[in-house]
Amino acid sequence: MQFLDVLRARKTTNGPFRPDPVTEEHQRLLMEVAGAAPSQLNSQPWRFVIIEDRQTIETIAAISGESMTKVMAEGTFFERYKPYFRFSEAEMEEKRNGMLFDQLPLLLRPFTKRVFTEQGQAMMNRLRVPQKLGEENRRLVEGSPLLLAVLLDRAEYRPGQLSSFYSLFSMGAAMENVWLTTGEIGMGIQFVSFPMEVPENWERIQRLLHVPDDLELMAVYRLGYLPENAKRPAIDWSSRQRKRPSQYVFRDTCETPESNWDS
Ligand SMILES: Cc1cc2nc3c(=O)[nH]c(=O)nc-3n(C[C@H](O)[C@H](O)[C@H](O)COP(=O)(O)O)c2cc1C
Repeated sequence: MQFLDVLRARKTTNGPFRPDPVTEEHQRLLMEVAGAAPSQLNSQPWRFVIIEDRQTIETIAAISGESMTKVMAEGTFFERYKPYFRFSEAEMEEKRNGMLFDQLPLLLRPFTKRVFTEQGQAMMNRLRVPQKLGEENRRLVEGSPLLLAVLLDRAEYRPGQLSSFYSLFSMGAAMENVWLTTGEIGMGIQFVSFPMEVPENWERIQRLLHVPDDLELMAVYRLGYLPENAKRPAIDWSSRQRKRPSQYVFRDTCETPESNWDS
């Protein structure tokens, strides 16, 4: 693929991966491109744990499913992220950001308008939606042939100091290289982020991975090869929409949006 095609095709995989193990050649390539990223003073503050051990993957999957059920049942997830949830094309066209929930079980569709209300939350809990979503999330993570944990060197990543911005930026650059390269080699990638929403569960993963005191666990991803004609999860979203240039590009000062590039 041409570079710009790879870049424009980059996306997050919400669905299942093939069970096939990720080849050692591809594991090495993903870590080579991660290591090729820019970093402040070439400090390379990132560290990675490649996880193929089934027991470890199953444990992280269970923690992820539990975490999703917890934050869904308590309503904290919806409360925290509702500014990004879209339930109509019209709303998405107007905002051009966020997640469009364009795949919902029939049963839930009538509730989309009330999903952020107490009654909506009570109804979802009565229908055991948090448990169903949690179980689907557990299966999705457990079905992944490889998890990738990303850590930062605490000598570089010092929250509250400029170095923490630099380290986070560098980590993001390294992960973008990985994200782009997955597209080039027929793989997909997704954050395993629900454990991050439940601090005690994030600590369980840190213990599971024997994270030493001089490193900070920053994120966990699931990776694998993309199946042909993958079936979308029962509840799924699309997030291909992007802002128009006039919404995020300015000319010379922030007073002058770039208005000639909107298509
Ligand atoms: C910092 C960060 C956190 C993210 N967290 C999640 C997440 O928790 N779950 C998920 O499925 N995707 C997550 N994503 C992926 C975004 O949802 C995705 O990049 C965005 O919706 C655009 O979709 P695309 O990646 O397919 O272009 C995250 C991305 C970033 C950069």
